[in-house]
Amino acid sequence: MKLALKLLALLLVSVVMMSCRGQKTDKPPIRHHFNMNFQERFNAQQENQFFEDGMAMRMPVEGTVARGMLRHDTVLFEGVDDSGEYVDEIPFELTREFLNRGRERYDVYCQMCHGGTGDGQGIIMTGGYGYVPAPTFHSESSRNMPDGEFYSAIANGIRNMPAYATQINVEDRWAIVAYVRALQASQNVREIDMDRYDVDLAELRDLYEQEQARLEAIAAARSSGASDEVTAERGERLYIQNACQACHSLDGRDGVGPTFAGLYGAERNFTDGTSAIADEDYLIESILEPEVLIVEGYDNVMVPYTHLNESELQSLVEFIRSLSDE
Ligand code: HEC
Ligand code: HEC
Repeated sequence: MKLALKLLALLLVSVVMMSCRGQKTDKPPIRHHFNMNFQERFNAQQENQFFEDGMAMRMPVEGTVARGMLRHDTVLFEGVDDSGEYVDEIPFELTREFLNRGRERYDVYCQMCHGGTGDGQGIIMTGGYGYVPAPTFHSESSRNMPDGEFYSAIANGIRNMPAYATQINVEDRWAIVAYVRALQASQNVREIDMDRYDVDLAELRDLYEQEQARLEAIAAARSSGASDEVTAERGERLYIQNACQACHSLDGRDGVGPTFAGLYGAERNFTDGTSAIADEDYLIESILEPEVLIVEGYDNVMVPYTHLNESELQSLVEFIRSLSDE
């Protein structure tokens, strides 16, 4: 009997407890212990008269460095030495593994623009998307660029190229620099030195010719079907499609390159001390061989636009001329 009563009581208690579960209530939960749930504090951006400046949020003590952010090694983190000059060294041991890592990262982050061999003919560039052309890494100036400057181009971007610091960590940036150096070496071997390498020269020539044929086909496909009209309007479209506007303004503002405003017919002075009047011949030459005459005050960074045909070049000239007409 006693046992039956006990069991009944237990049943009642459990039914009462069960019926509490899963039911909605507007009342705050019962707290047996408050932990530190309720205490005085300041919200972000709140005022606090305790401090002289009246702000509750405090600045870190001057000189504070967040953990892992001490970047005292300028060679490693910025590619420059104590005097601010770009270094010509890679602060890592050049192992095969390191180079392969660089190759892998290069193929992920650089190849679509600068090309698999570093010739500036990546798919973005040959697809006619109107992007600023990526320079080749096989020019004299690119070969002479110090390692540190190369590193800095990845970390901080360069002119129209954005920075890759958020995507590529410090060690990988240096690995890419090392790999680009290997690419440069691979494209700059004298034929008489080739005996040292175990490669089939004829096969390499074949590959090279295939690649040239591919690029020519792309250029031909691009210009086929295009009209051969020569007008300033067409020139203006070409100015935008070829991303000239990334470096040349139309309103007199200085950019990576000189403005086109008032250019036609003006006297130009060059870094070699010579000068010329900007006529049609000069303008076309500047577009096809920008490295020959460098306008004073500017760097030799324009990529030759050799894929433009005759009527396109003339249209660009007409466009530039139209900017100087009243
Ligand atoms: C979206 C296309 C694009 C990608 C991706 C890209 N670049 Fe560039 N890069 C450019 C362009 C365009 C320029 C030229 C910018 C200018 O002159 O205004 C350039 C310029 C450079 C230069 C300067 C070359 C010189 O001769 O002045 C270096 C070095 C360089 N890039 C390295 C890299 C490396 C390394 C990567 C990969 C981490 C990379 N770039 C990824 C488009 C790209
Ligand atoms: C990455 C930047 C860049 C792009 C893109 C670019 N240029 Fe240039 N260009 C320059 C710079 C820098 C100079 C001056 C240095 C030199 O003379 O090479 C220059 C010089 C010139 C000049 C001679 C200007 C003068 O003041 O005497 C002409 C003409 C010219 N560019 C036309 C073009 C055309 C047309 C396009 C597009 C099809 C183009 N450029 C694309 C950077 C660029």
